[in-house]
Amino acid sequence: MNTRNIATKYIKVNPDRPATRAMEKAARILKQGGLVAFPTETVYGLGADALNAQAVASIFEAKGRPLDNPVIVHVTDRMQVTSLAQQVSGPAGMLMDAFWPGPLTLILPVLSGVPREVTAGLPTVAVRMPDHPVALALIRAAGMPVAAPSANISGRPSPTTAGHVLQDLNGRIDAVLDGGPAGVGVESTVVDLTLPVPVILRPGGVTPEELRGIIGEVEIDPAAGAGSPGARPRSPGMKYVHYAPRAPLVLVEGRPEDVAAKIIELAEEQRSCGKRVGILSYQGGKDLSFAGEVVLAGNRKKPETVASELYSALRRFDELGVDLVLAEGLQDNGLGLAVMNRLRRAAGGRIVQA
Ligand code: TXA
Ligand code: MG
Repeated sequence: MNTRNIATKYIKVNPDRPATRAMEKAARILKQGGLVAFPTETVYGLGADALNAQAVASIFEAKGRPLDNPVIVHVTDRMQVTSLAQQVSGPAGMLMDAFWPGPLTLILPVLSGVPREVTAGLPTVAVRMPDHPVALALIRAAGMPVAAPSANISGRPSPTTAGHVLQDLNGRIDAVLDGGPAGVGVESTVVDLTLPVPVILRPGGVTPEELRGIIGEVEIDPAAGAGSPGARPRSPGMKYVHYAPRAPLVLVEGRPEDVAAKIIELAEEQRSCGKRVGILSYQGGKDLSFAGEVVLAGNRKKPETVASELYSALRRFDELGVDLVLAEGLQDNGLGLAVMNRLRRAAGGRIVQA
């Protein structure tokens, strides 16, 4: 299907009780092989029939997504998993019990019959049950598992509102369901359960501490946590620069006082060369507005508030038209790990120690 220059339908839905008619309309598009963006509790997803190879291929076309990056399949019940994955191991079942529906994606051995467009040819498949009434109603109405990456142009910050989706994909997808802002704000945690010890490939809405509370030992892929340079990620998606505003982003890490001082120093340097400087900061710290265009994303003491506002803050810098963004680093605890993972990837190696 041609994903360019199509009239994208905008469908407003009640996020708590989406109307049956709206969901049926959207489900019909999916059944016909079309693309529908929809809210989840993490970010907006761009959905297609997961068992229709051509429909999944058109997701890649619409997003400009590299073909070797597999997509997550969204389900409404655990029965659907048995049509996608070979077996649900003990730990997988325990994690589903504890966190589904919710921001946790499990990597399981794939069943034959799942299109290679979904898995990018890997022997595994990523599955998750989203915790959002609109996402669940859509999958149920369509009666199929729904493949859905985040609904952004590849490389851009993920969308947390329908407006963000339209900024990137208007005219390239069939419809967007507007169910208001996504809550968590960063994507699901991706855990590989096909290895002897479960490994977090991408930190996200469920923290390592929460996972360990259920299944004990859990490793963090070096490329997912600290984003150490040179570490080769096990998750294909983790090797691309992602989440970035249009202006280059420099991440400053260290103790909060040192970080603020370093940002002021860098901002002055840049301003003296005539550059417009954006600063990503958080409530509860030093006021940096004298040094550049400050965008605040949540409260630094509450990483969940930062996660929730992070992507819209990054998109805000595009509207401000700054030449450079200096971003304050945060602590790695709780959802801070997911936030720092996204910021390190948005920085694409431009990381300064204060
Ligand atoms: O919260 C989320 O997970 C959102 C919402 C829409 O559900 N989706 C999302 O999808 O973030 P996407 O495509 O932007 O990210 C999927 C990540 C990528 O890093 C991809 O490489 C990884 O999951 N992934 C998918 N299938 C995989 C597999 N079989 N093995 C390893 N990694 C996989
Ligand atoms: Mg994405």
